[in-house]
This record gives sequence, structure tokens and C-alpha cells, in this order.
Amino acid sequence: MSLYLRGLIQRDTWFGQFFHPSVSSSSFGGSTLARQAPIYSKDKDRDGLRRASRFNAQMMDHIRPYLQPGVTTGEIDRLVYGYTMEHGHTPACLGYQGYPKSICTSINEVVCHGIPGDRRLKDGDIVNVDLTTVVNGWYGDSSETFLIGEVSDEARRLVQVTFDAMWVGIHSIKPNGRVIDIGQAIYKFARPHGLEVVREYQGHGIGREFHQEPGVPHYPTPKSARDIVKPGVCFTIEPMLNLGVWRTVKDKADGWTVRTTDGKLSAQFEHTILMTDTGPEVLTLTETGPQEGHRF
Ligand code: MF3
Ligand code: CO
Ligand code: CO
Repeated sequence: MSLYLRGLIQRDTWFGQFFHPSVSSSSFGGSTLARQAPIYSKDKDRDGLRRASRFNAQMMDHIRPYLQPGVTTGEIDRLVYGYTMEHGHTPACLGYQGYPKSICTSINEVVCHGIPGDRRLKDGDIVNVDLTTVVNGWYGDSSETFLIGEVSDEARRLVQVTFDAMWVGIHSIKPNGRVIDIGQAIYKFARPHGLEVVREYQGHGIGREFHQEPGVPHYPTPKSARDIVKPGVCFTIEPMLNLGVWRTVKDKADGWTVRTTDGKLSAQFEHTILMTDTGPEVLTLTETGPQEGHRF
């Protein structure tokens, strides 16, 4: 079983525990027993990664027209479940660590891991839809925040800066560069806009497992200063930016839903990226979704 808990790695609890030198093998404190990021060098492996991510992106294109006022998040979840099964693939979230649905739908002050249900999307909401699929044993993971009807200026601005921050992160990395370059670039971009960067959840390596090394924090950390992005490393960049404070709290009742502690809005975008010898290849680009430079 993966040592990682849940989608985005939860740093404060057992991720921190895992990386504490007294608890487990780790690169913390100079141990040589660090878990290494898997390197995918073979064309066959890279094609497996590309196919899984492409499917995930096409599914995002499939559901995009349904994200309108009046739809419930449960309906979006069922669309994704049906589409995934029809194509003979597996929703990665369903049953993952006991997660009850196929996707995450995170509305307004929900940062991540919102559980789909009867909540109807209404004019002015922002909602992140996070999809992950297993295709022939390979994982693809991506998310988008959708504006429902007419949203406030500050909601639109939050979504815009979060989308741009993801792209700033993508362009910050080069072959054999450091993971910290990503967090540094995103943090430096977001803060002057007056937005806070969520710290308890981060991007992650991905491939034959949902969550693996390297952890990809969206702000600078000591571990990310030591982690190198060699060609063949596959990972996500998935910044969560908040209008208010960065701190989050998990819903005690459902054990999943993560909210901002001040109840202010949060947005997120996610792509899966393969580092190649010539630079990052974004594997989850969609046909009809927002392209780099898009204005919301
Ligand atoms: N897709 C999320 C991520 O980006 C993970 C969600 S795991 C779930 O890593 F169990 F909450 F669905
Ligand atoms: Co995701
Ligand atoms: Co992810």
C-alpha cells in the first residue's frame, strides 16, 4: 500500500511522520534511505503515462459542458464513473483510502477532496473538479476550477491567478532542476497578488501509483530543495490558492472535505507532467479547456 495518504499529500499528519527520521526511511536529516522518484525512461512506460493522462484530459472535455447552474456534483460524479467504465478504465479515487466517489468536487471555500453529492451548483459558485483515472495500470491526474454562471470579480481573479500560477510552476522546471524551483516560482507569483498558498497539500509523483515521490510543495521547503527532477520523473503541479489565510481544516464528519479555516474562497488547477530530456511535457492538456494564457 502506498505510504501516501489521500490525493494531495497531507503534510501535517502522517506525511510529516513518514518523513521524520526517527519514524521511517527518509531523506530528512541526511539519511541515505530516501525514497527515490521512479524514472520512466522506456518509450513503453512513457506511452503508458501519456495514454492515461490523455484519457483523463478527454474526460474533462467530456464533462465541461455539464458544469452549469443547477447540476449537482453527484451528477458530475456519475457522468465520470460511466464514461470511465464505458472505456474500460478505473476511477482512481473510488475506494482509495476509503474515498466514496469517483471524483472530487470542491466548491468555494472547499480547498480539495470535496465529496460529490446532492449539492446543486448555483450562479456565482466556483468549483474544482479533480479527475484521476487508471488506464492499463498507469495513473493520470488533473483538475480545473469552473466558474458557474456569473461570479464575483474576486472569485474570477482568484481563479485566474491560480491558473496562471500553475503555468508559472510548469515553466519554472528544467531537466535536472530542483523541485523547489516549482514552489518558489508559484509562491513568488501568488503572494504579490495578495493570495495565500495552501501548505498542507501538495503535488506528487505519479505513474504506476497514484502518489509517489517526489512530493511537490507549492511553496519552498527544505526537502524540495534537495529533490531533483531528472528526465523520466512524472509528477503533478496542483497549486491551491486562497483569498484569505492558507490554513485548512478537514471536515470531521466526512473525514475528507478540506476547507479554508476562514471560510474564504480557494481555487486549484492541476496537470500531470513528464520531465523529458528537453523539458516538461504536459500530459493532461485538454482540447477544449483553458489553454495557457486563457483569460477567465
Ligand atoms: N486527485 C487528487 C490529487 O490531485 C487526489 C484525490 S484522492 C481522493 O492528488 F481520495 F480524495 F479522491
Ligand atoms: Co488530482
Ligand atoms: Co494530484
